[in-house]
Amino acid sequence: MKVLVNGALGRMGQEVVKKIQSEAGFELAAVVDIHNGVAGGLNVDTDVLHAIKTTKPDVVVDFTKPDVVMDTLRKILPTGVACVVGTTGFSNENLEEVDKLANANKTAVLIAPNFALGAVVMIKLACEAAKYFPNVEIIEKHHDKKLDAPSGTAILTAQKIAEVRKKMHQGHPDEKETMAGCRGADFEGMKIHSLRLPGYVASQEVVFGGQGETLRIATEPINRECYMPGVILACQKIKNYQGLVYGLEKIL
Ligand SMILES: NC(=O)c1ccc[n+]([C@@H]2O[C@H](COP(=O)([O-])OP(=O)(O)OC[C@H]3O[C@@H](n4cnc5c(N)ncnc54)[C@H](O)[C@@H]3O)[C@@H](O)[C@H]2O)c1
Repeated sequence: MKVLVNGALGRMGQEVVKKIQSEAGFELAAVVDIHNGVAGGLNVDTDVLHAIKTTKPDVVVDFTKPDVVMDTLRKILPTGVACVVGTTGFSNENLEEVDKLANANKTAVLIAPNFALGAVVMIKLACEAAKYFPNVEIIEKHHDKKLDAPSGTAILTAQKIAEVRKKMHQGHPDEKETMAGCRGADFEGMKIHSLRLPGYVASQEVVFGGQGETLRIATEPINRECYMPGVILACQKIKNYQGLVYGLEKIL
């Protein structure tokens, strides 16, 4: 399988390049970034369409930036190449557009806000817990270079919990913030808090409150290797799909 890595000079891109080169059955077709450089021994191409045309990859893996990924997909999906996207920050409108574009070009795009198995299992467990503990707050903690907040994983967690939890307002009905934002973002009554500090990779806690007890479900990635099995699996399976596949759990 020939893979083009877009965003190859970034933190995640470099990890993907390393993994593709060490994985049996995979070949690093091209490395693309907005900056010149070398990744995995290949010169970076700064033009993704040129790289697709000259190297004909089976899959493009994209870990770039929330504000550029839609333009990239609009450019490359008409070539028919399948995409595995880890970049976060998609709106619902963006996801609808990606699905249409992929279907129109008879190809597939897998977008996963989190490729780590721990995160997928955390969301499953959180949904189970929310049936019994409807009072829930999500605390996500990332490094201070992250551009979007809340994280895609926190949004996905809240969306999935909302599917099983009865709608309710949390906290005191007369609660007032004396400092804007201190209670976090609101998603159907659930609160999401985003911590940004050097030192964190990407951890998350889902905290449930009941009478006289709390329950916490937490993931703690040690390093970026945790995302690689998910990325490899997505590259292997994406050819079986058409349109948008959202979330790693869909292919597990
Ligand atoms: N889905 C997941 O499991 C997961 C895990 C970690 C990070 N992420 C997300 O992945 C994205 C990248 O994270 P990172 O930590 O590697 O960021 P980073 O800033 O280290 O890397 C981004 C790279 O993209 C390049 N880039 C920017 N614009 C580009 C363009 N138009 N075309 C090609 N390359 C471009 C940058 O030069 C940089 O090298 C973020 O959105 C982050 O939230 C997702």
